[in-house]
Amino acid sequence: MPEITFVTPKCRYPGGNDKIFGANTRANQKSDEIGFENVINATVGALLNDDGSLSVMKSVMNHFRSLPDAEISAYAPIAGLPEFRQAVVEACFGDHRPKGHIEAVATPGGSGAIRNTIWNYSDPGDAILTSDWYWGPYDTQAKVNGRRLETYKLFDDSGMFNIGAFRDKTEKLLKAQERLVILLNSPAHNPTGYSLADSEWESVMDTICKLAENPDKRIVLFADIAYIDFAGDDSSRAFMELFGNLPENVLVIVAYSMSKAFTLYGLRSGAMICISSNEYATKEFFNSCQVANRGTWSNGTRGAQKLLADIFTDENLKTEIEWERTYYKTLLKERAKAFQKASKKAGLAICPYKHGFFVTVPCNKPNEVAEELENKNIYAVALQRGLRFAVCSVSKEKCAKAPKIIKAVIDEKSGK
Ligand SMILES: Cc1ncc(COP(=O)(O)O)c(C=O)c1O
Repeated sequence: MPEITFVTPKCRYPGGNDKIFGANTRANQKSDEIGFENVINATVGALLNDDGSLSVMKSVMNHFRSLPDAEISAYAPIAGLPEFRQAVVEACFGDHRPKGHIEAVATPGGSGAIRNTIWNYSDPGDAILTSDWYWGPYDTQAKVNGRRLETYKLFDDSGMFNIGAFRDKTEKLLKAQERLVILLNSPAHNPTGYSLADSEWESVMDTICKLAENPDKRIVLFADIAYIDFAGDDSSRAFMELFGNLPENVLVIVAYSMSKAFTLYGLRSGAMICISSNEYATKEFFNSCQVANRGTWSNGTRGAQKLLADIFTDENLKTEIEWERTYYKTLLKERAKAFQKASKKAGLAICPYKHGFFVTVPCNKPNEVAEELENKNIYAVALQRGLRFAVCSVSKEKCAKAPKIIKAVIDEKSGK
């Protein structure tokens, strides 16, 4: 029978399995065949225990399960429960609240915040700016919303944030378009694990403020802090003070996610929080994001919102959760350290890693390298210019073992 297409051309995409889920399935099949201990499955972007089971914070789940049924099953207001909108600002900034007008709107995770920002703050066909190493869904989100992603080089020759490349690209794009949305994922960048130092954030903000001297331009900095609670202590939030007292034509939107911080990936909860020197801009933000919510997923998950509100009004519960999170933070840190140390020993070059769930190994022919690694029972995700190894999902012992094998395969594939 001839094929009939129904999907409108702009929404047609080739099928096939998601690359990450595909590699994960193959790794699990291999584990069943030869034993979990003989397979290194570094594909999963969630924190796993050493035995491969999902790490779930008991303190979070216990409180969630204690919520009254109606608090879980009822709708939440479109913009989120008022007590959630208040708590999430505290959760986001900690002791580093920027000076300015602030508004928050609930979204289904950080992903929802990305969607609303792209949709509300750029025009169809516009470029959305991010770094050359980036989380794949940034591109998907740009595409499905009729925008396109443009990139600048994330690292300079000494492995620091490439402020020159950032400046050149923002300048160029702002010559061509009236508004610019910049997606900047730090700390604990996915996929490299880079975190901008406070001085690098200062340079970013100086660059943006300079470009904002043209009053006709609108610059929206989207700070994606999805992994912040796994990136050091409260001082890792200090850079957010730089989001205060900005020129009125600069708007900062911070994406807060409950997915990693509370190991609640599937509960789909987070918020977009805007900071502006102009009160009207924050009111406009609230109104347009509320309608964007209504026009897409309607509202967020009430139970998750109530949970966050409770945590930030119950000091004991908050402390208990922070304690439990510290255990997982240490686990992650030790795994990343083991991978870094073994990479150094094996002579394997990796992107500058500071914090977070992933380490990136730049290499040529990443698909071939990933395929060959699968023959050696190591599963990682092939990116355009390297491999993403999820230290979050692999034991310290396996993190220490993998780099030597990866190095050998990369050398073999590049004919060394
Ligand atoms: C860089 C980055 N931003 C945002 C998110 C959003 O996650 P969620 O939509 O679950 O909050 C993720 C999740 O993997 C991520 O890696």
